[in-house]
Amino acid sequence: MNGIPRGDEALAQTYRTFAQRELAGRSPSYERLCTAIAEDPAALAMLGELPLAKRQPNLLLGAVRLLGGPVGDYPAFREFLLANWASVSREMLDRSTQTNEAGRCATLLPVLAALPQPLALLEVGASAGLCLYPDRYRYRFGDGEPFGPADGPLLECAVDGPVPVPAEVPRVVWRAGIDLNPLDVTDPGDVRWLESLIWPEHADRRERLVAAAAIAAGDPPALVRGDLNESLLALAEQAPADATLVVFHTAVLAYLDTAGVERFTGQMAELARRRPGTVWVSNEAAAVVPQVARQVAGDVPRGRFVLAVDGRPVAFTMGHGQGIEWC
Ligand SMILES: C[S@@+](CC[C@H](N)C(=O)[O-])C[C@H]1O[C@@H](n2cnc3c(N)ncnc32)[C@H](O)[C@@H]1O
Repeated sequence: MNGIPRGDEALAQTYRTFAQRELAGRSPSYERLCTAIAEDPAALAMLGELPLAKRQPNLLLGAVRLLGGPVGDYPAFREFLLANWASVSREMLDRSTQTNEAGRCATLLPVLAALPQPLALLEVGASAGLCLYPDRYRYRFGDGEPFGPADGPLLECAVDGPVPVPAEVPRVVWRAGIDLNPLDVTDPGDVRWLESLIWPEHADRRERLVAAAAIAAGDPPALVRGDLNESLLALAEQAPADATLVVFHTAVLAYLDTAGVERFTGQMAELARRRPGTVWVSNEAAAVVPQVARQVAGDVPRGRFVLAVDGRPVAFTMGHGQGIEWC
């Protein structure tokens, strides 16, 4: 169809489906581009040269934006892509899609603030570690009064149900993270990559990212490079004994296979034995953690994460922290 070789049709379908399911109504510019790429044999042939995992729309679009390419209309995008494919493909091979959304701290906050203070935070799949600073951001839940440090970016979160909205931010005395590829908030190139991954129309997310990265850069987090299942127990041993150790993850376990998720939940059980009082906070798509999914009563609203404490669901949350519905 449309002169697209058979081998590239699966890739065309990936871009078409991404445009229809993910981008429609959220990013008109990217929807236009991905729809056009799906019908463009030259673009598909170039993308087809890359390893399978490197052909994703978000990686391509982020790389073009990182290099200053136009993402408004397809002819200009295509011209840039064809002229700069060597640089675009190099960025796609060197980088990976690893957004870091500080806004998710708003949906974690009702849980974190209710725990015995102070807290030692350990985030697995931390990216640049922006979710390790829940004490440094400002919050407004529903139409309540804002609270938190005056210089923090304001995270606004809609509430539904009996959300235990806190009155103040938690006290954090230790923060550390693990990531396969930790990004460095003090490196302008890494921050620019995170910015490039945010869809063009989402200016509020870009502003939040830049503000959160500036806060984190003033006191950079300790991030360990490695697989979360390999590094968790050793890193947890470094947490101060007189704080509540909280191991948390948001939008991470979907990257693991079933055995990896099982191994992680097994390690959380081991950690609870080794260090009683450790708290496990999970914020993931509904089906990702079977132990959590089994306990969700009724249907999970479409597109929501399930927030769970020690494997028990407590709320449904919106992906970027914009809303929370207490169960
Ligand atoms: C979608 S990002 C989410 C980042 C952050 N948790 C947030 O909510 O903004 C997922 C992150 O998990 C990391 N990741 C995926 N699999 C991992 C693994 N097995 N071990 C450590 N990190 C992993 C990726 O590198 C990426 O930075």
